[in-house]
Amino acid sequence: METQIQNLKNEALAQIITAEDLPELENLRISYLGRQGHLNRVTSEIKNAPPEKRGLLGSLINDAKQAIQEVIANKKSQISQVSKENIGFDPTIPGIKPEVGHLHLVTQAIEEISETFKQIGFVRVRYPEVDWDWYTFTSLNMPEGHPARDEWETFFVDVPPHPKYGQIVLTPHTSNGQVREMERVKTLPIRMINIAKCYRRQSDISHVPMFHQFEGLVVDRDISIVHLKGTLDYFARNFFGKNRKTRLRPFHFRFTEPSFEIDVNCGVCNGEGCKLCKAGWLELGGAGMVHPVVLKNGGIDPTKYSGFAFGWGVERTYMMKSGLKIGDIRTLYSPGLRFLTQF
Ligand code: FA5
Repeated sequence: METQIQNLKNEALAQIITAEDLPELENLRISYLGRQGHLNRVTSEIKNAPPEKRGLLGSLINDAKQAIQEVIANKKSQISQVSKENIGFDPTIPGIKPEVGHLHLVTQAIEEISETFKQIGFVRVRYPEVDWDWYTFTSLNMPEGHPARDEWETFFVDVPPHPKYGQIVLTPHTSNGQVREMERVKTLPIRMINIAKCYRRQSDISHVPMFHQFEGLVVDRDISIVHLKGTLDYFARNFFGKNRKTRLRPFHFRFTEPSFEIDVNCGVCNGEGCKLCKAGWLELGGAGMVHPVVLKNGGIDPTKYSGFAFGWGVERTYMMKSGLKIGDIRTLYSPGLRFLTQF
């Protein structure tokens, strides 16, 4: 009987290993392990064996059952795996969609801002992000050593200064494009939108060391604050929503006179005051009427022409649009896909 059990086990294992599909495997399981199966039949014959051998025969049968069960389980997963792989080649089954990315939030914002200004005739330009002191400060009425420069927390590039244009700096604002645009445009008017990277020695919840600004500049005859306010309100309505408007608060910049800080009414609380805003208003950036010294430095006669300019942070403007979704400006530059894919 011991040999019979051993033979049954070997025979079962050999058949299981060569089984081709799950139904065949199931038939083999029933035939060896089922209630009427070979191993149970042998078990019922144990009683005919001499008493001292019955224990050994019982454990041989259990070993055989266990071995058969294990081999069946392995074979089952092997067959399932193969059929899964085969399904992968079935041309009638819909494919697995590849993950599709999208433009970074800041790039999306830049495109939207450019498009909004394009509708009212602004031309998108780009000026150097590493530029001379002259365009960045001196031509903007901030001569060397003037304390107004301190606010810009500039990175200077360690190379010998140019005799006329001075040191090289990583631009801390896009206003370096103002005099450059006046030099480029031969016949007025100017309607420029300069969007570029800026750098400052700052990093906290609302500041990053590298960020983007968009700078608007309009120069023509008889340009007044009314044109500035109209342009800003147009932008607020079209970028943030139709019930949004701006307000001008007196401020000081060396390159505009008069100068303002621009606020937009808060879209989260509709001007009531909430944790995102200050009493219903959010600050967007600076603006003002181009200073006569700057016009002169750009070769434009300030007795005949006037202009306005504004410069805002792209990231902050986008954060404002997103409501409370982006709480810390630095997350915009984190590589976290869980954050970026929400937008
Ligand atoms: C300026 O940079 C002026 N050049 C703006 C201007 C242009 C005034 C034309 C008049 C005429 P200010 O330093 O306030 O101004 O910066 C403008 C905006 O840039 C800020 O309101 C903010 O939105 C953004 N900004 C400034 N520093 C950072 C920073 N470190 N991180 C992110 N955004 C910043």
